[in-house]
Amino acid sequence: MKDDLLLDPLIDILVNAKNIAVLTGAGISAESGIPTFRGEEGLWKQYRAEDLATPGAFENDPSLVWEWYDWRRGIIGSKDPNPGHFVLASWEKDFPSFHIITQNIDGLHQNAGSKNVLELHGNIWKLRCTGKGTLFDDQNIPLEEIPPLCSDCGALLRPHVVWFGESLDMGILNDAFLLSRECNVMFVVGTSAVVQPAASLPLTARESGAAIVEINPDATPLTAYVDFSFRGRSGEILPLIDKKLIQAQKPGKD
Ligand code: OAD
Repeated sequence: MKDDLLLDPLIDILVNAKNIAVLTGAGISAESGIPTFRGEEGLWKQYRAEDLATPGAFENDPSLVWEWYDWRRGIIGSKDPNPGHFVLASWEKDFPSFHIITQNIDGLHQNAGSKNVLELHGNIWKLRCTGKGTLFDDQNIPLEEIPPLCSDCGALLRPHVVWFGESLDMGILNDAFLLSRECNVMFVVGTSAVVQPAASLPLTARESGAAIVEINPDATPLTAYVDFSFRGRSGEILPLIDKKLIQAQKPGKD
């Protein structure tokens, strides 16, 4: 495999790295069976996410939007983390500083055991009061009522996710840029790197001197700027890197 040529120099960097950041997108959950946004099986093509994931759609027809989220929660809720998620969860214990910055709302990083996870686009298992902003955890599939109402004040609840035309949480975004500036290595896994501001994070890391490692079966607008490009599935490449890293840290072990 030609990627082997890349592995040794990457492992040399990783054994000395103190601070790792990982930007993930829908591709890391693809092998769990969750369709990506822009792939052939992508949610957008089948269900016109751009028409539903907007404040305007919710204003017009909250029940329709909630039915769509209820359906998505059903898909996501039946899926498990894959080897890519599990390798990242294990690395949290191996490096002095290790953080995941994810665009995903599926919660699979946390299900795999990751604790240091910044969710740029929210979480589908959280509901937010449109009145007072109170957050509620809700794992019910299906939801108990559609549209769900706030148990405190009776206002509509909405999914705690970022919709088209909405801004990201400034605190989370600032933390993401800080992590990007401070890391020695940034992995960019399973993202088409076309949605801002997430797509700027690897460039920020690069400007600050980090090595950038992209894992994706396809090229992206970022590929020309990365130090290591592994063209493959994250559920296969991450375990491969992990195996080499363990061998380098514990010579003699397979
Ligand atoms: P996309 O659907 O745009 O991109 C998924 C990427 O994953 C593509 O580049 C694929 O080539 C790659 N991919 C597919 N299978 C893979 C695998 N097994 N291993 C690794 N990579 C794989 O999804 P995102 O980049 O996450 O935002 O999209 C970014 C944002 O666009 C989403 O968070 C969403 C959407 O607008 C909001 O909803 C706010």
